[in-house]
Amino acid sequence: MLRDFGVWALCAQILGWAGVYRLLLVVGGAVSVMDDRAKIPLQFGELTGDDVGEYCVLRPDADPQVIRRRLFDGHQCLIARSEDGEMVANLWFGSGRIKVDFAGCYIEPRSKCMYLYDEYVAEHYRGLGVAGGLETYRNQYLQEQGIILVVGAVWPGNHISLNRTRKRDYPELGSVSAWKIFGWTHSRLSLRDNGYPPLIQAAYSSKDGSRALPIERLEGAGVKRPA
Ligand SMILES: CC(C)(COP(=O)(O)OP(=O)(O)OC[C@H]1O[C@@H](n2cnc3c(N)ncnc32)[C@H](O)[C@@H]1OP(=O)(O)O)[C@@H](O)C(=O)NCCC(=O)NCCS
Repeated sequence: MLRDFGVWALCAQILGWAGVYRLLLVVGGAVSVMDDRAKIPLQFGELTGDDVGEYCVLRPDADPQVIRRRLFDGHQCLIARSEDGEMVANLWFGSGRIKVDFAGCYIEPRSKCMYLYDEYVAEHYRGLGVAGGLETYRNQYLQEQGIILVVGAVWPGNHISLNRTRKRDYPELGSVSAWKIFGWTHSRLSLRDNGYPPLIQAAYSSKDGSRALPIERLEGAGVKRPA
């Protein structure tokens, strides 16, 4: 952690444990055609309200009400099932005003851009390329919906996820962060343009962090739109 992200990342982690500061790296890029295949046979599909009970078996920490709320708000969750029908992986995406749970603030991806979040593979199915298989299905699904850009937010210490996003040409574009002091949330978004000074910056302070940080003009932030 210290080697890869420096002293500031270590401080951010300590402040995060104390519940005062949360930092996530924003990664993203064009929705490309992928051809990653898992090492096991999988069936893909979309989560519906009927699957919420089963989803909570895969994700025991999930609150069924929150999951139903996400679906009600129009967020979509794609799932992978093993050959015998067990739900083994999921990923979520949505647009419009979305809460970044870990940071406790809101972002708002615009202009045919989706926010990807809460990707998960059951522990005993990890290392088998399940996430790549599901992402291949997701990108095809998003392209059919006319979505051209995606962004996600990754905890700086999540090396597995960061390695995966780098390999898939989803560079780190910047960060989203939130300070929580005396009941107030100061949230901040900054996106770089290939090493130049931040192109997009937004920062808001509010009692509940409810004002959304807009994510737009991403093609200037090092993200190329597909030809
Ligand atoms: C990140 C995650 C979705 C990757 O799913 P996956 O299907 O295991 O992905 P892969 O099969 O491509 O494996 C990814 C890496 O994990 C490593 N790995 C292998 N076996 C593993 C195991 N039993 N447990 C964990 N990781 C393992 C692989 O070696 C691979 O490393 P590599 O990229 O250097 O080859 C999964 O690890 C996960 O659900 N993690 C917890 C939730 C999370 O962090 N979500 C992302 C939030 S941004």
